[in-house]
Amino acid sequence: PSLHDFVRDLPKCELHVHLEGTLEPGMRVALAARNGLPVPDVSTPYDFDSLTSFLSVYYAAMTVLVQEQDFYDLAMAYVRTARDNGVIRVEAFFDPQAHTSRGVPFASVISGYSRAAADASALGIDVGLIMCFLRDLSAESAMATLAEALPLADLLIGVGLDSDELGNPPEKFRAVFDRARSAGLRVTVHCDVDQQDSITHIRQAAVGIAADRIDHGSNVVEDPALVQILVDRRIALTTCPLSNALVADSMKSREIVELLHAGVNVTVNSDDPAYFGGYIVDNYVALAEDAGLDDAAVVQLARNSFLGSWASEDDKRRYL
Ligand code: HPA
Ligand code: ZN
Repeated sequence: PSLHDFVRDLPKCELHVHLEGTLEPGMRVALAARNGLPVPDVSTPYDFDSLTSFLSVYYAAMTVLVQEQDFYDLAMAYVRTARDNGVIRVEAFFDPQAHTSRGVPFASVISGYSRAAADASALGIDVGLIMCFLRDLSAESAMATLAEALPLADLLIGVGLDSDELGNPPEKFRAVFDRARSAGLRVTVHCDVDQQDSITHIRQAAVGIAADRIDHGSNVVEDPALVQILVDRRIALTTCPLSNALVADSMKSREIVELLHAGVNVTVNSDDPAYFGGYIVDNYVALAEDAGLDDAAVVQLARNSFLGSWASEDDKRRYL
């Protein structure tokens, strides 16, 4: 088979996808019309070259998400694409504060997404939801969001940290993560590629916060002692080659392969596929071609996605 078909047919887990980052231009137009909002001109491609410039496009586009049904439809469209990509389990991020700050009720967001997660089972996909805090908002806002979510904690598998990293270290949210963990939730933290203070942020996430995973995180190659900590603690990295290519101007293939060889649980994911030019198969193919990976390395990446997932040990055995 072609590399594309080989990758597509490998059972995989997607561990780093933002549901709001799966909003394709066509659905954005349809939701704007349905909600009586100005219909955006999507004829020119999105333009960004950094995390900050990506985020401003991303938050503007998602304002078409208003009703519970919008969140459901967005997530179901992604689930169908994920199925066509050979994904059998998804641990998906969502950004409630990006909606509640616009007056959308938290209940609409969580209900739409969790209803889609339940319906995904019929398509043969297990979906777990990871609620992210926007790190450029205050720790108090994150704590209030967590408090609102805790009565519904059964609908979540974990919490994460995303948005603009500059000046917003993981430690800012230590109390929020401690409380989430006490409620039985797992923890993952974005340490985006080539950000200021990246190594400090990775160390805080891995050691101070004791995160279960780190999202992106490939700058850890600059610090071999910290690489060893990730290996010893089995902290998985969720890398996203096509995202890297756009916001950091390199796929970081060399770094990803070096970490794989060092024994870090490296996984490949799509991040914001409607914006970065491809879903998960495209990300595997781009990395494999750029790095010259053989089939065994590609299989290892897919296997890592299950090992790094938060599936129960029983489910992991079933998947693997
Ligand atoms: N990094 C930070 N914030 C984000 C991302 C990301 O990759 N995607 C959506 N919000
Ligand atoms: Zn991300």
